[in-house]
Amino acid sequence: MDAAGFQERLINDLATSMGVLQLYLGHRLKIFDAMRSFGTETPVTASALATKMQLSERYIVEFLKSCAVQGYLIKAPNDEAAFILPAGHASALCDREHPNYCAAFTCFLPSITPILGALQEAFRTGGGMPYHDYGPDLLEGISEGNRPLYKHEMLQEWLPKTKVWDKLQTPGAKILDVACGEAWSTITLAKGLPHLTNVIDAVDLDEKSLELARQNIEAEGVSDRIALHHKYAHEVSDGDYDLIMICESLHDMHNPETVLKSLLPLLHDDGIVFVADEGVPDTEEEMLPKDPTKIGSPSDEPNNFLGRLNYGFSVLHCLPASKCWHSSAAIGTAIRPSTLRAIAKSAGYDVEEVHHNGFWRFYQLTPLAPAKSQGA
Ligand SMILES: C[S@@+](CC[C@H](N)C(=O)[O-])C[C@H]1O[C@@H](n2cnc3c(N)ncnc32)[C@H](O)[C@@H]1O
Repeated sequence: MDAAGFQERLINDLATSMGVLQLYLGHRLKIFDAMRSFGTETPVTASALATKMQLSERYIVEFLKSCAVQGYLIKAPNDEAAFILPAGHASALCDREHPNYCAAFTCFLPSITPILGALQEAFRTGGGMPYHDYGPDLLEGISEGNRPLYKHEMLQEWLPKTKVWDKLQTPGAKILDVACGEAWSTITLAKGLPHLTNVIDAVDLDEKSLELARQNIEAEGVSDRIALHHKYAHEVSDGDYDLIMICESLHDMHNPETVLKSLLPLLHDDGIVFVADEGVPDTEEEMLPKDPTKIGSPSDEPNNFLGRLNYGFSVLHCLPASKCWHSSAAIGTAIRPSTLRAIAKSAGYDVEEVHHNGFWRFYQLTPLAPAKSQGA
């Protein structure tokens, strides 16, 4: 690619990034929700929207025009001043219960930009960026971004493929959710498996995530079914679990092998550790673009898309957050199947990939020796 081609590519990426930031503004100001309240596929004028929302009409005019040129909104035919929010866009942007809800993903860029100065320093020193420094936008991006996956896939597609699925249908099954964040995976288990008589344990080291988890658990009416614990994963000292879940977190841990080893004695006979983590392929080559002068769409080049997405998160968030500890495994977001297998095998597990949804991979980790004897 020559300099002019590269310049075009960079400016195109800039336009795309600014589009995402405008979607974030729309999300925070609830502009799309207000448009939707006029009716989907209904032309809405800037003036009606500004009046309803008590926002500056001039800003709303510019915002709607900008969203139309980005393709987020459709310009109404025969009306210069009106714009339409298509039904599919409305579901993805406004309907938190929809499987394709994705407004929360707009929160990632604003969570990263404030720490870019400190991150430059981390590049120089090799130090890390504390998880909580990324603030509430990061927590919303992760928890609300992952929530649809838990709600619509976890009990429908992932866990039925594991060997503990039948056991989970019995009242006495015991579950531990490791690195639960805002606890949407735990809440999904509690609501979807109402017959369980044991409280589901959930741990995380981030205090703010647990505070929000407590609110979510309360709002969902499952406070008596979940016990939250503020601790490191490797500090859980006793239990007899049929299922230990680690969802989108193993790559974030500074000590993933220690954590997996420490979980062995907590497993019931026939129990498993279930790991959901990034769906990247096994080699760097597979993630490279077929033609670097043309980046394909996610469906044209899924592995390149996963590479761009996960290495982006890695450089800007997951790697710096895991580097806060002196001796860190520093895995990074793009955890490849072979890396995960090597860590799990060295910790004492057999590994089977049971599912891949195009976005994440799902692994069943079974102790190589009977669980209780390994921990003894
Ligand atoms: C990407 S978030 C995923 C959170 C949650 N599982 C979800 O899907 O919404 C990673 C989580 O791992 C937690 N974490 C990282 N290292 C941990 C450790 N060693 N022990 C416990 N939690 C840890 C972080 O605090 C954070 O909540």
